[in-house]
Amino acid sequence: MAEPTGVLWERDPHTAAKHALLRRYMSAWFPIMAKQFRDVGITFLDGFAGPGEYTNAQDSSPLIAMEQAQRTEVTRWRTQTRLVFLEARAGRAEHLRNVLDSRHPPADRPSRLMLDVRRGKCVDLYEQAIADAGGWSGPVFANLDGWGVDTDYSIVQRIARQQSSEVLVTFQDQFFIRFADGEQEAGERVFGHSGWRAVDQKLTAEKAPFLVNLYRQGLHDAGFDYVLMFQMVDEGGHSLYQFFGATSEVAVEKFKDGLWEVDGVSGQRFRDPRDPHQMAFDIREPDLSSLRNTVLRLLDEREHSMAELRQHALRETIYKKTHVSAAVETLVNQGKVEWARNGRSHADQVLRRASRLF
Ligand SMILES: C[S@@+](CC[C@H](N)C(=O)[O-])C[C@H]1O[C@@H](n2cnc3c(N)ncnc32)[C@H](O)[C@@H]1O
Repeated sequence: MAEPTGVLWERDPHTAAKHALLRRYMSAWFPIMAKQFRDVGITFLDGFAGPGEYTNAQDSSPLIAMEQAQRTEVTRWRTQTRLVFLEARAGRAEHLRNVLDSRHPPADRPSRLMLDVRRGKCVDLYEQAIADAGGWSGPVFANLDGWGVDTDYSIVQRIARQQSSEVLVTFQDQFFIRFADGEQEAGERVFGHSGWRAVDQKLTAEKAPFLVNLYRQGLHDAGFDYVLMFQMVDEGGHSLYQFFGATSEVAVEKFKDGLWEVDGVSGQRFRDPRDPHQMAFDIREPDLSSLRNTVLRLLDEREHSMAELRQHALRETIYKKTHVSAAVETLVNQGKVEWARNGRSHADQVLRRASRLF
């Protein structure tokens, strides 16, 4: 999407789907974290906050955080809850303040909810703003939803060092593909090194996979054990990547629950960027063909237990652990794989490629 110039602009379908996903995940994140981190408090950072609404929608990431942080499931724990919103453009920061104040008047806010809206660049402000809020004592969820080319790697690294923290980053590959031989400074900031410039030497079909894999590796290197990446595709075929970095399995599971629930919102589909054959998934009738191919590929290498296959699905694919049983069942019925052992636990249920008779 072309960068808008006014204070407000129209919400596109990608953004609508992103909001649905964020709302779904935050409805789990706030209560779970508020309960678990009662002693140190929790922080939601919106590094690219925007004006708080759109010409055609009253929703936005800061308003979603505000709404979710005030639910009784959260406030009942009396946990210090900090919302830090940063926005580079003065008019948008001002608009956001006004929207927040009119929809959530300060007098009505829970006493342990702290809100800070600052104008300026995320990279310049975030560390001090979180420090001033007391946020470096506990977990931080950082929504880094810029135009896809503007999240400095240093921010991701800093959040990764913070215990139990998570990032959700918007990433746009086309910018880097177009400017690999020109505007290199942005690339260096986003990737944290110059290795991304090799995209210039790749064949056209390899460029996007190269960049998203490199970025994914960067999140791992920063310290996120779990990195989920997915592509949002609209009916016009426009796409935008989202990267979710977390340090706990539960976080990825919850995030995937949201992803599968929200798929289809506003005509958006999510897909796994590493699998060019997979179109998009549908919650009502998930297309597990890509997962079945993954299982076959793994079993071509060696026997795998269900526990291993479930872990692989969670960590390396867009699928949930619970999808593995259905994929395996089909493969067994098709005679492509067989049980080497079929015990009670997932670790004890071991699969192998079926011996081919013909
Ligand atoms: C994609 S919009 C954010 C939308 C918002 N997260 C939402 O869900 O409604 C990106 C916003 O980041 C702001 N922005 C751009 N560069 C920035 C920077 N370096 N630091 C902070 N804000 C920035 C833009 O002015 C714009 O309002």
